[in-house]
Amino acid sequence: MNETKKLYLFANWKMYLGLEASYVLAKNIKEELANLNNGITMAVFPSTLALASVAAELKSTTIKVGAQNVYWVPEGGYTGEVSAEMFAATGAEYALIGHSERRHQCHETNHEVRQKIEAALTAGLTPVICIGETASEREAGSTAEVIETQLRSALGALAWRDGLPLLIAYEPVWAISRGVNKPGGHCSAVEAGKMHAVVEKIARELTGIAPAVLYGGSVRPETIAEYLATPHIAGVLVGAAATKFSSWSEITAAAVEAWR
Ligand code: PGA
Repeated sequence: MNETKKLYLFANWKMYLGLEASYVLAKNIKEELANLNNGITMAVFPSTLALASVAAELKSTTIKVGAQNVYWVPEGGYTGEVSAEMFAATGAEYALIGHSERRHQCHETNHEVRQKIEAALTAGLTPVICIGETASEREAGSTAEVIETQLRSALGALAWRDGLPLLIAYEPVWAISRGVNKPGGHCSAVEAGKMHAVVEKIARELTGIAPAVLYGGSVRPETIAEYLATPHIAGVLVGAAATKFSSWSEITAAAVEAWR
């Protein structure tokens, strides 16, 4: 039994679920999964479209809600963007920042990631800072360098907000699913755990705070226990397998079991 440690079970619904499907999944989660052990934090990250309705549905529960992205200016003429403040006002408590799909498909830079982290902290949202190397960076042997650059840019000389945990998601880009039924490459729990130790060390040096490092990349009901049994893995950020109630409840059950 873990008395003091925390476990994070985070569900990134990406752009898989529309308004109605998001609401239905939130309702199922509320009805079936709302009574988790102490120490386990579950959060769902719906699309921007569905966030307010999901947050309203989960309001009276222990399940948290987060944004998948934020803009760094609080308000103004920024067509199509939504600010951290606006998400916070709907009940969101977290924000994914720098997810690899935004870095690589939307060309988000380390500098923009940094601005978004600062904006999230200002709005009182806990940023979940996503980092990870691509397949070609890994093949070139530059994983450690890429990770360090991303972390330095995200956290160097940053005043963290008191009371908010430092959450980092290590998501090797090559291991992320290519679709709901298309897992990415397999990053073993051992390999992930080694990277998490490196991430922890760098993040702690930069901030003075011990981070919780979550793993993300094709986590499935069959593999969750292995990741959670590995030192330095403080939780998971799950995409594809979190978008169906059946697999998310299996993941949750396996995590609760592993946490005993
Ligand atoms: P996946 O996504 O579980 O579908 O691989 C994880 C993520 O990208 O956050």
